[in-house]
Amino acid sequence: MRPGAKMDSRKIEKEIDKIMKKLTLDEKLAMIHGATLFKSGAVERLGIPGISTSDGPMGVRAEFMGDRWIPAGNNDDMVSYLPSNSALASTWNTVLAHDMGHVLGAEARGRGKDMILAPGINIKRDPRCGRNFEYMSEDPKLTATLAAPFVQGIQENDVAACVKHFAVNCQETDRLMVDEEIDDRTLYEVYLPAFKAAVQEGNAYSVMGAYNKINGQHCCESKNLLDLILRHEWGYDGVVISDWGGVHKTREAAECSMDLEMSVFPDFENYKFANPLKECIQKGEVSEDRIDAKVRNLLRMMYRLKMLGKQKENRKTGAYNAPEHREAILRTAEESMILLKNEKNTLPLNRKKIKKLVVVGQNAAKIHSDGGGSAEIKALYEICPLMGLKMYLGGNVQVEYVKGYHVPDKPKTFEQNWQAASLDELENTTVGQAVRDEEHTEENHRKGEEERLARIEEEKAEIHEKNEKLFAQALEAVKDADAVIFVGGLNHDIDSEGFDRSDMKLPYEQDILIEELLKVREDMIVALIGGAPVEMPWRNKAQTILWSYYAGMETGNAFARIIFGEVNPSGKLAETFPVQYEDCATGQNGQFGKWGSIKLEEGLYYGYRHFDRQRIAPAFCFGHGLSYTSFEYSGLSMIAEKGKNVKLTFTVKNTGKRAGAEIAQVYVAPISPQADRPVKELKAYAKIELAPGKSRKVSLTLTQEDFAYFDVHLHDFIADAGDYEILVGASCQDIRLKGIATLE
Ligand code: BGC
Repeated sequence: MRPGAKMDSRKIEKEIDKIMKKLTLDEKLAMIHGATLFKSGAVERLGIPGISTSDGPMGVRAEFMGDRWIPAGNNDDMVSYLPSNSALASTWNTVLAHDMGHVLGAEARGRGKDMILAPGINIKRDPRCGRNFEYMSEDPKLTATLAAPFVQGIQENDVAACVKHFAVNCQETDRLMVDEEIDDRTLYEVYLPAFKAAVQEGNAYSVMGAYNKINGQHCCESKNLLDLILRHEWGYDGVVISDWGGVHKTREAAECSMDLEMSVFPDFENYKFANPLKECIQKGEVSEDRIDAKVRNLLRMMYRLKMLGKQKENRKTGAYNAPEHREAILRTAEESMILLKNEKNTLPLNRKKIKKLVVVGQNAAKIHSDGGGSAEIKALYEICPLMGLKMYLGGNVQVEYVKGYHVPDKPKTFEQNWQAASLDELENTTVGQAVRDEEHTEENHRKGEEERLARIEEEKAEIHEKNEKLFAQALEAVKDADAVIFVGGLNHDIDSEGFDRSDMKLPYEQDILIEELLKVREDMIVALIGGAPVEMPWRNKAQTILWSYYAGMETGNAFARIIFGEVNPSGKLAETFPVQYEDCATGQNGQFGKWGSIKLEEGLYYGYRHFDRQRIAPAFCFGHGLSYTSFEYSGLSMIAEKGKNVKLTFTVKNTGKRAGAEIAQVYVAPISPQADRPVKELKAYAKIELAPGKSRKVSLTLTQEDFAYFDVHLHDFIADAGDYEILVGASCQDIRLKGIATLE
């Protein structure tokens, strides 16, 4: 075979037929469940290897012991630390999405993995969801357009992407059991499109079934989700793998398209797809054909990954920690940071005018890569903002750092892994990765939650006591500085898998400190790092606000280059930043973060769709982000071809003095809709780099699908004839051009 050549699918199916004839029932069963915590069973007799998987979305996770949820403690598994998906999404750059996927895939293959448990593409329904930092956006279109190239990028390395968590995995509270009641229209319009794109356009080789239930049924056992939607409607022929411990009922899971059961417990023979399933087959309760279908899906993926047969020799080798990975990571980090406010053009700072720079705040000097849950990694290095600033400025500028506020010490996750804790302390059901079903009692929930809240209260007292001195120090330090940068926000003690945030406020009394500091230094640059929106009650007093998600190993370099104008910020918000939590749809309906069950009663109206409809002004709207230059939009023209696409063109001009990039967004607003529809929805966008004074004509195409909604009676998307307003803008509120497209 030519290097890089792929086996054609007919040939693959023939090869699979041959193998199927040779496999015994025990061998087939071994293949469909974990043989170690991160690897499925092999059939050595026939040269079929186990599938080696690894987390996760921000880099390849450290090696774990095979039968204990404890890192192996090696020194050869440090890796490139990639920007989180929330950061990536803020670039609105599909090329970078591909590049980050490629880096992740190459690192995974370099570490000998067959499947990387990424990307996480759940829709951000509520800003308090603990795992939002791992996800891309509140918007299905933006998520879909980034997920597909990300998946392709991974898989170019002969590694399977594992798109997770399918589906509607939108809260961490009670994540193993919570039942999410959702109507079909909301499911199809909001929570499924990104998965559909990852499967159909990205051609994802694997999908991870989510922990939660949808309408009474666990996702990993759902015929509707896995058989009807994924396989039948979308034509998927890849692998479905369970989230770790997501399978509860042997027969149900066996009888639907769940192919590979993984879990967090080391008693592999008791996995549902091991002895319990064997018993079911022997009793005639489950037909062996079901197992064959699963094995076929696994073998098909193995052929696609060149894990079997002659093509093994041609399999890509990958590489971890390659220098070019770090370059791509730096570029992504730079494009991900979002300038929320810059009223007096305080930014960029002029390095020549600064002799003394004072940096306040714990996130200036904090490392984030080692936390967050299964997304934690052992980074080769991580440049924090303070180091980035110092590296940029060199020795002739005095950079003074003060902590500003107290952050209680937490054990490093490598020392005391919370996933390990969930195994050892089964009563700890709040933050556990998975618990045995029998431990999942109302009382255990309550106890776990009470303990967590009690710990938070204790910490608050500790913080308050220590802050008095730290605040005074900070207020003193900033007085005679030439420039002051506050770097605060959240961290992975708060943005984490396993629990949700209890509110949207900045922790550690940062709001008080920021207010105080702004009184003495109104020119203070407020920079925040976090995984999800926070309330900023002082936002009208601050002149400059810069937001960054967890942006990877080069965070500090990107940060310094933006602060000093080496790079012009071009990130835009991929989610709404509300003034206060109560303004959100879920803040109003209370259907978030509850145990037992939640009802997605807001339907389509969450995020900007809710703020638009209720006419509530957010602090910073979806799509918002400033630049050091300015852009002008002009000349929108549209051609609607009957029954076909609408082609639109417009011109964007850089009217400022610096090169920069603009993200032009296209929203479709039905004028007299025949069904209930959001005021407007994002349907296309383009990121345009422009030298000062230059302009470019942008051409974008809207398909029929972009005008459609899901009709539950027809069980299909339909686009009604009529007029639609086409809104082109710099954010969802800053609309610069309008036109009308008529669908016949
Ligand atoms: C998480 C998954 C992760 C898996 C393996 C689960 O708790 O939900 O995202 O891939 O663990 O660590």
